[in-house]
Amino acid sequence: MAQEDVFKKVVSHCKEYGFVFPSSEIYDGLGAVYDYGQNGVELKNNIKNYWWQYMVRLHDNIVGLDSAIFMHPTIWKASGHVDAFNDPLIDNRDSKKRYRADVLIEEQIAKYEEKIEKEVAKAKKRFGDKFDEAQYRATSEHVLENQAKRDALEKRYQEVMNAPGGIDLDGMKQIILDEEIVCPISGTRNWTDVRQFNLMFKTEMGASADGTSTIYLRPETAQGIFVNYLNVQKTGRMKIPFGIAQIGKAFRNEIVARQFIFRMREFEQMEMQFFVKPGTELEWFKTWKERRMAWHQALGFGAENYRFHDHDKLAHYANAATDVEFKMPFGFKEVEGIHSRTNFDLSQHAKFSGKKIEYFDPEDNTSYTPYVIETSIGVDRMFLSVICHSYDEEKLENGETRTVLHLPAALAPVKLAVFPLTKKDGLPEKAKEIIDALKFHFNCKYEEKDQIGKRYRRQDAIGTPFCVTVDNQTLEDNTVTLRYRDTMEQKRVAIADLQGIIEEQVSIPYLLKNLK
Ligand code: GAP
Repeated sequence: MAQEDVFKKVVSHCKEYGFVFPSSEIYDGLGAVYDYGQNGVELKNNIKNYWWQYMVRLHDNIVGLDSAIFMHPTIWKASGHVDAFNDPLIDNRDSKKRYRADVLIEEQIAKYEEKIEKEVAKAKKRFGDKFDEAQYRATSEHVLENQAKRDALEKRYQEVMNAPGGIDLDGMKQIILDEEIVCPISGTRNWTDVRQFNLMFKTEMGASADGTSTIYLRPETAQGIFVNYLNVQKTGRMKIPFGIAQIGKAFRNEIVARQFIFRMREFEQMEMQFFVKPGTELEWFKTWKERRMAWHQALGFGAENYRFHDHDKLAHYANAATDVEFKMPFGFKEVEGIHSRTNFDLSQHAKFSGKKIEYFDPEDNTSYTPYVIETSIGVDRMFLSVICHSYDEEKLENGETRTVLHLPAALAPVKLAVFPLTKKDGLPEKAKEIIDALKFHFNCKYEEKDQIGKRYRRQDAIGTPFCVTVDNQTLEDNTVTLRYRDTMEQKRVAIADLQGIIEEQVSIPYLLKNLK
């Protein structure tokens, strides 16, 4: 199946099975805002749990925080968001549609990459087992030609994005013209100039009519951590190095909001700021890169689906930055950012608030403004990567196709579904008895409608790792048929053993144990 088709199927699957709904759908929706349904919220909570337990529970020098979304407006002046949190926009005069100029260029780069991958896939099919992919990539004329075009475009793009005086907006427009990029709606190249647009949402607080009541919806959770640095350090008697972790909503007025929940206007972040001694930050940056990659890979999706994208050019306050990218159906995309932000944020807040924000190091009797390593991951992007990777349409021996989500069991919304074989003879009561005993340990679901086969399919579609069928034999010997989602293997087990077989595998610690 083409990757584009996979993505379309994932989007409709998410809606059909109660994972993600367009927001305000009965009013025709609201652009780039989504609601998580009955299964989506469980999966999302499990992802958040997996992150929180790893960051906060397994690291004895990281503590949590839940700061307010509304914050003093000067915070956003100090952080640079009021002046510089902009996207470069371009309009097509014919369709009157607005686009992010950088996204148009990135999509053009992705098109070259797609051409290369298609070419390689075709050759793979043609040559079968004898295919030497590395050699083909190094010698095929078409591949090399597209690779050269891609690399030249990437180089030009990086130059305009990292121009000395800020993004070179004219240079961006020139790339769009030179690459002959057309508006997907009008099909024309009748573009306006590129201009900057601030992404923060504004609202008013209180009844005051003067400008001081303007409040921003936070575009990142990180600033809530920075402005609480002193509170947490002092009340928690934290010693450097230490971290503060937070999960919460963030808001950005994204102009190009496509690809489902990949780029949203209201989304959720899981961020951790790790405060370190100046001079040690690059060592810690390396450590956090390794730790975060290990956390991703412990899900078992295969190392080949992840890569780092190290930033060549850095923001003026950063001295290292990388993205963790995951192979989505629409290419490798950023899921998490890891940044070495020096002491920029704390120094700015010290300057704008007039408060001294420092750490007294008892080891060498010095005071300094700590440096910060930040790890910042989008919950929704993580959700998307998990669901895209898990979605599968399997051809069965009997010719049927089953749609299954091979979710890591610890992330699955429902862990165990219990079915009475029929609705009589006391089987529903027995099934409910099993649920009543196990629901304290993990999420269980009762199903009695339709034939057993159909019930299995419904559970496969939401990724339930275990199903149990209660039949007449159960009433005699207290055993049930346990069915495994991935292998579809079925075996007879005692009800008394169910908790032991299932609980460990569906728990977050089971995943965390994959981490060294
Ligand atoms: N505090 C640093 C920060 O916010 P970022 O790279 O802008 O850095 C971090 O965002 C992560 O938040 C991204 O890697 C992505 O997973 C997620 N994210 C950012 N914008 C998003 C959006 N509009 N929709 C969904 N997720 C988004």
